[in-house]
Amino acid sequence: MQVIAIAMQKGGVGKSTLARSLAVAAARDGLSVLILDMDAQQSVSQWAERRDADMPVVVFSTENELPKRLDQAKGVADLVIIDTPPARSTEAPAAVEAADLVLLPTTPDVEPLEQMPRTLRLCRGFSRPVYAVVNMANPTGPAEVIQTREVIEAMGARAAPVVLHRRKAHRDASASGLTVQESEPGSKAAEEVADLWAWVRSELQNSK
Ligand SMILES: Nc1ncnc2c1ncn2[C@@H]1O[C@H](COP(=O)(O)OP(=O)(O)O)[C@@H](O)[C@H]1O
Ligand SMILES: [Mg+2]
Repeated sequence: MQVIAIAMQKGGVGKSTLARSLAVAAARDGLSVLILDMDAQQSVSQWAERRDADMPVVVFSTENELPKRLDQAKGVADLVIIDTPPARSTEAPAAVEAADLVLLPTTPDVEPLEQMPRTLRLCRGFSRPVYAVVNMANPTGPAEVIQTREVIEAMGARAAPVVLHRRKAHRDASASGLTVQESEPGSKAAEEVADLWAWVRSELQNSK
């Protein structure tokens, strides 16, 4: 069993969307997937309620419950994806500590990028691979992504090679308890998620 933590001390950057998209991609790859929703706002749990499929399994977890939840998942889940709250929390460090791989979604905007060093700091105590994932990039040209990568690298961090652009399909899918791979297969949004999952899968292989 491997664990991915998704963290960023900023709301609206796509943490929960990324957790759902990667979970569905992994499940479609044949993995047994559990999302641990550690955000009191429970947006992934609510998405699961809008959903019919039984994969991924979504369970809410407090920080205190996390060790027990992970223990219960052993032997059942192949992959656990932990979604964390948008603000400074005790949940995010606990998730990072439990993780084999940490993903920090950010939009190309100055506000989340300014917050990123705080989230990077909380990862620093643990020797986990950590990558920023640029999300909601402007689909019209590469300039914004190039600039955002430079900002991330200047912080001493690494960015994932795959970028997710701003695509309405993500919002529409969420409304129906789906992800873009399910609601709009073959769309650019779905292709980007597939590419990101392929990269994540190889990172997880390398960290075994
Ligand atoms: N790549 C994207 N393109 C367009 N909308 C997106 C994208 N990623 C996320 N969203 C939307 O942005 C909003 C915030 O995303 P969410 O995953 O809830 O962020 P967080 O969990 O970091 O607060 C949601 O309405 C979601 O549907
Ligand atoms: Mg969220």
